Amino acid sequence: MEENERMKTAIVYASKFKGNTRILVDAIAAGNDIDLYNARSVEHVDLRGYDVIGFASGIYYGSPDRSVMKILERDLPRGKKVFFVCTSGSGRSSYVKPLMQEAKKKGAGVAGVYSCRGSVSMPGKTGGKRHPSFKEIRSAVNFYNEMMDRLESERSEEGGRAGMVANLPPSGGSGNSPQDPEDKVVKTAAEVAAGISIATPLLILQHTLRRMRK
Ligand SMILES: Cc1cc2nc3c(=O)[nH]c(=O)nc-3n(C[C@H](O)[C@H](O)[C@H](O)COP(=O)(O)O)c2cc1C
Repeated sequence: MEENERMKTAIVYASKFKGNTRILVDAIAAGNDIDLYNARSVEHVDLRGYDVIGFASGIYYGSPDRSVMKILERDLPRGKKVFFVCTSGSGRSSYVKPLMQEAKKKGAGVAGVYSCRGSVSMPGKTGGKRHPSFKEIRSAVNFYNEMMDRLESERSEEGGRAGMVANLPPSGGSGNSPQDPEDKVVKTAAEVAAGISIATPLLILQHTLRRMRK
């Protein structure tokens, strides 16, 4: 993907009771280019072309709708960024735990969870108050936009680091001064190659031992 290309998002949702979850999903999708998939009307979703995938559901007897879990189990490719949205009578976010556990098994990075209450009694009412309320809907939209800003800036930092690696001189740099910017680049190159920041302490140790031997 080009560095300045927007990340592509899909949301797989189920909202079978009163459409409470759908209200949040629609509000999030209204100002953003997002593909929506109703898990209850599809067998499979091809999620390979998406960078970020949301799973959204109402909560029924303590669990998200089975249709959403099925798509996650069958179709979530390894290593994607995922987020979760749920509405329930209580508003608890822990209801998404089974979805989250399954996504983690597939190496997904969990980018965020948004949950709020969803009306259970009169259409659009719980104890006289409508849920999701306007405030809850606005918070869901803010949640998504802030999450995407964070993911986009993480991606451009990663892109910047990869660019530094690509521009390394053939020798890979040999500076010994701690201030030498090449030391930093070598460290970053190894971090990117390893794909995990745990490489950093090892490199510092190696670097220190090399200097002690001189
Ligand atoms: C059959 C059924 C079971 C429910 N079970 C729970 C539950 O276990 N915990 C909870 O907090 N809310 C529960 N609720 C409330 C719904 O999660 C809530 O109304 C939600 O917003 C429904 O989302 P939807 O309109 O998008 O389907 C239940 C509702 C129904 C109809």
